[in-house]
Amino acid sequence: MSRASQPEFALPDLRGRTALVTGASNGVGTEIARGLAEAGAALILPVRNREKGESAAARIRAGAPDAGVSLRDLDLARLDSTRALAETLLAERPPLDLVVLNAGIVLLGDPVRHLSADGFELHFQTNFLGHFALTTALLPLLRERRTRVVVQLSLAAGMSTLDWHDLQSARRYAPLRAYGASKVALGLFGYELARRSAAEGWGIVVHLSHPGVVPDTGIAPAMRARDRGGVGRGLAERLGNPPARAAQPALMAAVTDAAPPCFFGPSGALHFGGAASRQRPYRRLTDPVAGARLWSVATQLLGDRADAVRA
Ligand SMILES: NC(=O)c1ccc[n+]([C@@H]2O[C@H](COP(=O)([O-])OP(=O)(O)OC[C@H]3O[C@@H](n4cnc5c(N)ncnc54)[C@H](OP(=O)(O)O)[C@@H]3O)[C@@H](O)[C@H]2O)c1
Repeated sequence: MSRASQPEFALPDLRGRTALVTGASNGVGTEIARGLAEAGAALILPVRNREKGESAAARIRAGAPDAGVSLRDLDLARLDSTRALAETLLAERPPLDLVVLNAGIVLLGDPVRHLSADGFELHFQTNFLGHFALTTALLPLLRERRTRVVVQLSLAAGMSTLDWHDLQSARRYAPLRAYGASKVALGLFGYELARRSAAEGWGIVVHLSHPGVVPDTGIAPAMRARDRGGVGRGLAERLGNPPARAAQPALMAAVTDAAPPCFFGPSGALHFGGAASRQRPYRRLTDPVAGARLWSVATQLLGDRADAVRA
């Protein structure tokens, strides 16, 4: 095992377990998948780019030659893709012990507000609504398997707010604002899923994590292009985490025995980097009224979209 992928805490033996990780074709997600595979878990990796997926699978197998790695197609920015994956999994009924909702985009440095093919703001759909659609469609399987769900947030979720009258930043757009809002929505969803599971006895275990600041990933390409002097990168490199270490909070969330829902992140300065540890949740994400409201709004948005497609 390379030093970079050396876990700082011991993952238990995960042989016989199956984990699905979104966004494992690059960055932190590849390292989360690698960590799980090296502990013995079989992997289902839904990716939007098969070539990148194959390349990540090869890197994972290099450290875990016996790992079962199965690629699937998923573009979170397309509801037809999310639906297709859910239907496939519901038909195949893989023994899903763990789902890590890790994929994400942040279009920092790009002032243009982008819409998905479904007409949703791109951060909102990729980071939140796509994961919401996939997870809620899979609920029968997740309940049957008493699956653990790990929700990958961001420091931005602790600093951002959700404008209920402008959830998709249509009136006022800035990339960091839209990214932060999407991660707040994802966090509200995570805690609401935990509450519903506890109240209804679904058996789904939910924990949340964030990776800190991770300069060496594919995220924010436009910002990287503009950061010619390397000032932002220098700061991120000094305080942040390399991808393998940034994967540790999600891995800790994947195996902790602590009562759910817990929140894990890096323990260093400003929580940018350092070893993974349990952290206090961002209070705005644990509000049950906001969580229930978000679930209802998202369900409505998906329903409206389905009606629009049928019409
Ligand atoms: N890097 C940081 O500083 C940082 C800080 C806080 C939180 N995070 C969070 O950490 C997670 C991982 O980010 P990262 O830094 O590892 O970024 P990354 O290297 O860009 O990886 C993002 C992953 O998400 C996938 N993805 C993006 N859009 C998708 C879509 N429409 N459908 C399916 N998959 C999609 C990407 O697929 P492709 O390979 O096809 O692009 C890639 O596998 C994200 O949720 C991010 O918000 C990162």
